[in-house]
Amino acid sequence: MYSIGNRVEWLQGPGANCAKTGPVAPRPWHLVLLGPPGVGKGTQAEKIIGEFGACHLSTGDVFRYAARDTSGQAPSPAMATALAAMKRGELVSDNTVVELVRERAGCLACQYGFLLDGFPRTLEQAHALNGILASVERKLDAAINYFAPEPLIIERLSGRRVCKQCRTGYHVANKPPRVAGRCDACGGELFQRDDDKPEAIRTRLQAYAATCNPVLEYYRRQGLLREIEASGDPEAVFAHTRAVIEKLDPVARR
Ligand code: AP5
Repeated sequence: MYSIGNRVEWLQGPGANCAKTGPVAPRPWHLVLLGPPGVGKGTQAEKIIGEFGACHLSTGDVFRYAARDTSGQAPSPAMATALAAMKRGELVSDNTVVELVRERAGCLACQYGFLLDGFPRTLEQAHALNGILASVERKLDAAINYFAPEPLIIERLSGRRVCKQCRTGYHVANKPPRVAGRCDACGGELFQRDDDKPEAIRTRLQAYAATCNPVLEYYRRQGLLREIEASGDPEAVFAHTRAVIEKLDPVARR
């Protein structure tokens, strides 16, 4: 069982040093997780890490970290624009997101491997990722695309709650905390993300629909795309995910 690293370098940018103390998997994975908002990418990422190792690198987490920065410093103009777009459920500009990932290229070269979640979201970002990976001499093993019917996705997003302190995720019906409104792990208060409110959910789903197909096609043409139906419960979806990863490299089976 592998544990999730502290991802300090990913969240704070270059200059911050991750505590790299956990065991390194015999086979570091380099995976992209694709799929609509709320389909369960983050939920599957936690399970993949536990079984196969790798660091969960979510671009959304970088923005959320910047949004709650307690240093008292105002965000840069580019970051302020990005955070406003995110709150409305819109995509952040390609330039901003690509620059943010490029600055963190060291995380993609890390010995633990990576699960990129939320990037790339556009064809431009997919091309940029290709270049960034080449610059650190890494190659993708696969792009795993999760899909599910839209009503189910809306139900997952609108019921999601997150701990203000430790960021553990819950769902009011599918994964409720033991005490309503309180985190099981640390007792922190649970809240609803701004972009999980109805208007922003609609905008996010529209943004996804407008940009996803060229990205899927890009990875399909390279033979990297793997598709997983994500309607089942998290364990059932993970059974499919595990089978897909093991098939990528049977030697890596633990
Ligand atoms: P980001 O943070 O990437 O959000 P997202 O893609 O919208 O995905 P989510 O994190 O909302 O959902 P998820 O698929 O991880 O689902 P989860 O596992 O939490 O991006 C946020 C914003 O940042 C974007 O809108 C944009 O503004 C900006 N941004 C980020 N990257 C960008 C980029 N590259 N370009 C431009 N802009 C970018 O699950 C959801 C809920 O469902 C949870 O409550 C969970 O418990 C529950 N659940 C999960 N799986 C199951 C299951 N199998 N059964 C039942 N319940 C389940």
